[in-house]
Amino acid sequence: MGDDGSTKNPRPFRAEFWRYVGEKIEWRERERTLPLEVEIGGGVGWFAIQHARACPEIRLISLERTREKSDKGRRRLDHHPELTNLRILNADARAYFSSELEPESVSRVWILYPNPNPKNASERFFVSSFFERIQAVLAPGGEVVLATNIREYFEEACTAVERLGADWELVNKIELQGLKNHSPRSHFEKKYLERGEICYEGRFRKR
Ligand SMILES: C[S@@+](CC[C@H](N)C(=O)[O-])C[C@H]1O[C@@H](n2cnc3c(N)ncnc32)[C@H](O)[C@@H]1O
Repeated sequence: MGDDGSTKNPRPFRAEFWRYVGEKIEWRERERTLPLEVEIGGGVGWFAIQHARACPEIRLISLERTREKSDKGRRRLDHHPELTNLRILNADARAYFSSELEPESVSRVWILYPNPNPKNASERFFVSSFFERIQAVLAPGGEVVLATNIREYFEEACTAVERLGADWELVNKIELQGLKNHSPRSHFEKKYLERGEICYEGRFRKR
């Protein structure tokens, strides 16, 4: 599907047009070898802080392009000096993925409740040409986790990944509403589950 939502071949992603000019990350020696996960659109950092705390065996970069939100996330993170495996950055994921992440360096990409952008396919991560860059930085066996309350967005993502063929598989697909032992992981997930909406989660693996 093209950036305009059509079925034409998408224009290739032009990574050279995107440049990240923000803060550079220096990991400490002991974190450098941990599997790297990246969150796109981390909001105010709720998921990132919980996840980094629950999984000290990974390191996480949480990217949020709205300055006020990433600043709020960073202020929250200041209260958790022990979380040396987490960085929250004010960054557009397209720029960060293009200029900061090496090919096949990322084990998991989290996309929780992305903006739906119904009129702008170039902003929908799975059908825009940016997905090429996501694929390129993912290590073999790595995965993209998508959660959304919008069924059409979820189905569109499944179809887009199916079209990529045998190199990809949908390894898990669940509906979060009513799921036992599931606590909300982000502000948007909390809001939607409290409203009784169905939230869909898919894990797409690059073989
Ligand atoms: C609907 S909010 C969800 C926030 C959080 N993930 C949650 O579940 O509560 C989507 C967020 O994605 C951010 N965002 C959208 N496009 C982005 C991009 N290209 N790079 C980084 N962040 C982006 C928006 O600024 C917004 O904060």
